[in-house]
Amino acid sequence: MAKRLQAVRGMNDGLPETTAVWQHVEAVLRRLVSAYGYGEIRTPVVEDATLFIRSIGEVTDIVEKEIYLFNDRHGEALALRPEGTAGCVRAGIEHGLLYHQEQRLWHLGPMFRYERPQKGRYRQFHQFSVEVFGLTGPDIDAELMVMTARLWRELGIDQQVRLQLNSIGSSAARMAYRQALVAYLLPHQQQLDADSQRRLQSNPLRILDSKDQQVQALLAGAPRFSDYLDAASQQHLAALCHLLTELQIPYQLNERLVRGLDYYNQTVFEWVTDRLGAQSALCAGGRYDGLVEQLGGTSTPAIGFSIGLERLVLLLQQQPTLLPQPAPIDCYLIAAGQGSASAALQLSERIRTALPTLRIMTDCGGRDFKKQFKQADKVGARVALVLGEREIAQQQVIMKPLREQCGASKNDQQVVAQDQLIGHLQCWFKINTLNQETISE
Ligand code: HAM
Repeated sequence: MAKRLQAVRGMNDGLPETTAVWQHVEAVLRRLVSAYGYGEIRTPVVEDATLFIRSIGEVTDIVEKEIYLFNDRHGEALALRPEGTAGCVRAGIEHGLLYHQEQRLWHLGPMFRYERPQKGRYRQFHQFSVEVFGLTGPDIDAELMVMTARLWRELGIDQQVRLQLNSIGSSAARMAYRQALVAYLLPHQQQLDADSQRRLQSNPLRILDSKDQQVQALLAGAPRFSDYLDAASQQHLAALCHLLTELQIPYQLNERLVRGLDYYNQTVFEWVTDRLGAQSALCAGGRYDGLVEQLGGTSTPAIGFSIGLERLVLLLQQQPTLLPQPAPIDCYLIAAGQGSASAALQLSERIRTALPTLRIMTDCGGRDFKKQFKQADKVGARVALVLGEREIAQQQVIMKPLREQCGASKNDQQVVAQDQLIGHLQCWFKINTLNQETISE
């Protein structure tokens, strides 16, 4: 037997039961950003590798260890995008969207990072992101946090997430703090774990969010970032905190929050949860006022965030009451006898044209009536529409309720003329003829 092929490690298939949850989340997200006036941008999954090296930073985990790099057939160095902000900025510059303009954009799609897979951490994962250009904040910073707070409320998970906030200041402030941090840690180098020792040379600020207990204990005596924060960043943070208080968005200031991508400055934030084990960050983002210029555009302030959709779906799946109920099949078309396949397909097409909101399934495969009814029951259909040879010849159809509804019992079967079927279905399913909406019971 041929070797069975499997999905690549860390990359998941989405099966119908789960994709229903994804569709629900995506519908809520689309509605949300539309209500705030954001427009969608779509960029390729593959970009020039240099884009990510220049934006995310050469000495970050993403670029050093996780990025999927490959050469195409002409030897061009390409990468699968590990995140979407860099591509969005590249596209914005390329199409002149950012030149002295304000833009409020969102994007959604798969990202790729070669990480060690575990619950909530995958090699292909999906982000929903928002990116705003041309606004210096802090009002827009606050809007992004209000928007995400609204999302958690709409999804019913607001009690399970909390907002962590920090300012990582200007690049000069970070440089000064970096020197002070290295000076403090160097004499204790032996107490650092291997990762932090490496970072001491390359990216010392990242040591601040090390998960190692000994490192965290050591950091208790380290210089504090807030003592190095420049005046403009202090004011920005204070004004943002004031806005969040006025808007009744609870937050925690966390001086150790530094983020793993180099393009940030000033405001950084994460929405975290205790429900997903080690992968606690559900949503993360911040300001990246220098990135547009760094990638060849004119200096443009910017801020954004990304939500990890796998983590959001995992969180929802922990509470079945928050999950959308599967939409039932309204009509199951059952037919047998001479010419039944054609008659059934034609009739179901006529119904779909007249009543596009109804969900109609036509039995296929030519099995006997009994098996067709069994299948109708299995898919949870509400009404069976039955065509036998006599009904086909007389242009009729039998309507048989399979569930108790609309005051009809399962025994209330009736024979109706095919020409009058639409009217019966409208009445049966309480369909408003003006806008074709099915009125829920
Ligand atoms: P990030 O912190 O690298 O930021 O990722 C954002 C979110 O994506 C994380 O909080 C997490 O929910 C999810 N995520 C990251 N890696 C994985 C993974 N391997 N498996 C599953 N989920 C994952 C960014 O990517 C920035 N581009 C965010 C941003 C947008 N900043 C400004 N605009």
